[in-house]
Amino acid sequence: MGGNMNSLRIGLAGLGTVGGGLASILQKNGNWVENRLGRPVSIKTVLVRDPSKKRNLAQDSGIRITTDPSDIVDDPDIDIVVELMGGIDAPKNLIARALNAGKHVVTANKALLAEQGEELFQLASEKGLGLYFEASVAGGVPIVQTIKESLACNRIPRLLGILNGTANFVLSQMTTQSVEFGEALAEAQRLGYAEADPSLDIDGGDAAHKLCLLIRLAYGVHFPYEKLHVQGIRAVTRQDIAVAREFGYRIKLIAQVNEVDGRLEAGVLPALVHHTYLLARVGGNYNAVRVEGDCVGSVMLHGQGAGALPTASAVLADIMALARANRAPDNTGFADWRLPEASVINHEDARAEHYFRFTVDDRPGVMAAIAQAMADNNISIAQAVQKGEAMERCVPIVFLTHESSISDVDRAVRAIDAMEFIQEPTVAFRIL
Ligand code: NAP
Ligand code: HSE
Repeated sequence: MGGNMNSLRIGLAGLGTVGGGLASILQKNGNWVENRLGRPVSIKTVLVRDPSKKRNLAQDSGIRITTDPSDIVDDPDIDIVVELMGGIDAPKNLIARALNAGKHVVTANKALLAEQGEELFQLASEKGLGLYFEASVAGGVPIVQTIKESLACNRIPRLLGILNGTANFVLSQMTTQSVEFGEALAEAQRLGYAEADPSLDIDGGDAAHKLCLLIRLAYGVHFPYEKLHVQGIRAVTRQDIAVAREFGYRIKLIAQVNEVDGRLEAGVLPALVHHTYLLARVGGNYNAVRVEGDCVGSVMLHGQGAGALPTASAVLADIMALARANRAPDNTGFADWRLPEASVINHEDARAEHYFRFTVDDRPGVMAAIAQAMADNNISIAQAVQKGEAMERCVPIVFLTHESSISDVDRAVRAIDAMEFIQEPTVAFRIL
């Protein structure tokens, strides 16, 4: 993989799951990439934290390993800096230094771009350089280029999807293998899907980071990460999965944004998805995004959202796109990088159908009291069932409701959870 005069030289920051995947693809498909670009792509230097770790690089790769970022950002031979370290401060500093040194940047770091991307996009724009991030959203699924280029003329009333492979893997394992949450998560970590801090996957933060980036691309606005409503999958039990299944639904961690009269309602939350929807069939670490365009109609992309080779495939796509660009790169998909802040619909004002699970004492009057509290809060019940298999002292009751406002749902849950027969906090999930 060593460079030659004509080679496009990469400075790679991070040789973990994704960085290692990039090195593998260049070993495996380097000639193919060269055929397409008309020049080879080579990794010149790799920045790591621990230089003593054994690395899976070819003996003759000629790649230099360093712990000093200057060896990448200040090397005039390096054309593109690829940031695959993760974290916020160190990669932000590295990317800013690379842009200031006149180098294009490719990153898979959705947390950084969603939370602090404005400054970096501004810097890239001022310098006329690329800050590309295909791998940051849905790993190997080419959703960034699709929205930015292929669907560019469309207004998008709705975009939704499964954006976290780890959470989807965990829910899929719980559904198909009947394993516990912890066991499924450990397997996802072993397979390299999970973030360094897996609570980002499980509690919805990672999907929310990706949703912020998609909103930027689809609507040309900055949606502050803190304004997203985010709920993860910790509250989902095998029992919820089984009951939802009886009603014909699967439980998925859904990221979604709806545009209503120029305002955006957006968030990440577990939702019941009817088994006839394509999204319900997205299993394992797979991701899927459905974009509803006003001209193109509904477009759905499906593929691996995490893992070494799928994610590195998206990284290399960005590298190749930058190598081909014959104009200043267009990072955000809009002529002006300065995007206005989104006009946001509060989570409480959104409306949806819901699944409720109440854990209650098994005695007369309980169902009636819950139904009354629902009626008092304008919630109309579509289906109700008391599950036969009682737990130690209590029994689950499940309601599916017609559409109601989230504020009514929250009020009803507060009222019901204060009733003396409630044994565990009520669980409420949206139905798509
Ligand atoms: P990883 O396996 O933990 O690898 C991180 C690499 O970065 C390691 O080689 C580490 O060095 C190096 N590193 C970390 N901090 C450093 C620092 N301060 N200075 C120098 N080197 C540093 O991470 P990963 O899973 O490949 O993820 C990398 C990025 O891709 C993250 O932003 C992640 O969110 C994103 N991403 C990951 C996936 C996935 O499937 N894993 C998918 C999409 C996006 P050592 O090897 O010496 O420890
Ligand atoms: N941890 C992330 C996931 C990696 O599970 O989807 C891809 O961004």
